Amino acid sequence: MPALHYVRKGSGYPVVLIHGFPFSHTMWEPQIEMLSKDYDVIAPDLPGFGGSPVVNPITIAEMADQVAELLSSLEIRKCIIVGFSMGGYVSFELLQRHSELAGGLVLADTKAGNDTEEGKAGRRKLAEAVIANGSGAASEAMLGKLLAPNASTVKPELVQQVDRMIREASPEAIAAASLAMAERADMTSSLGDIRIPVLVLVGSEDGITPPDGAKQMASAISEASVKVIDQAGHLANLEQPQAFTEALLEWLKKYV
Ligand code: MLT
Repeated sequence: MPALHYVRKGSGYPVVLIHGFPFSHTMWEPQIEMLSKDYDVIAPDLPGFGGSPVVNPITIAEMADQVAELLSSLEIRKCIIVGFSMGGYVSFELLQRHSELAGGLVLADTKAGNDTEEGKAGRRKLAEAVIANGSGAASEAMLGKLLAPNASTVKPELVQQVDRMIREASPEAIAAASLAMAERADMTSSLGDIRIPVLVLVGSEDGITPPDGAKQMASAISEASVKVIDQAGHLANLEQPQAFTEALLEWLKKYV
């Protein structure tokens, strides 16, 4: 499989930021700036997104293998993995398939369960819509759910930025990732096997992976803490970059 594109900034213990759907490493810009003062930050583009070539079809497990391959090529043997939403699904696969890599895990606005039949059908519909009508179809379907309900009033420029980010993504990559998410494994029963420190971060108004589900996920993990980011929806890291990154840094400093 072709190598992933990535950005790398800073030095220290490696922290790997895995982006959500349908974004790229650019969704991590505020975190890359702040974390790289103390850490070696690596932010890959998952297949087809940002600068990485499309792999179609693809599975979430194959995405994880590609991240592991990238880390191996960078001679990174242990790191903190930070997975946002779809990046969280990839992180669970990394833990299953390349457990030696993970010194700690941050699950941001994500969940361990897989999709209902209705959810899977929605993923297939979205894949068809972007191939027929372009990436704008993904923005039309998703934009209203990604940020807190009052975002268009209080953060109109962020709404525009997120819209742009989705429209810039390749339709083929969106379709492939959407179908990959539909087929992802249910990781709920393996949460109890996680033996590394975990931080669960979630926006207080995240309607895609809500706080109640995030707390339930954390309670199934032996060493997990939860931090709810106020006044943030699903894209908590972009809506409240300072609070999100400070919570992440505070947790990181306890371990590395
Ligand atoms: C994401 O932010 O990566 C997506 O909302 C994940 C999903 O659709 O399940």
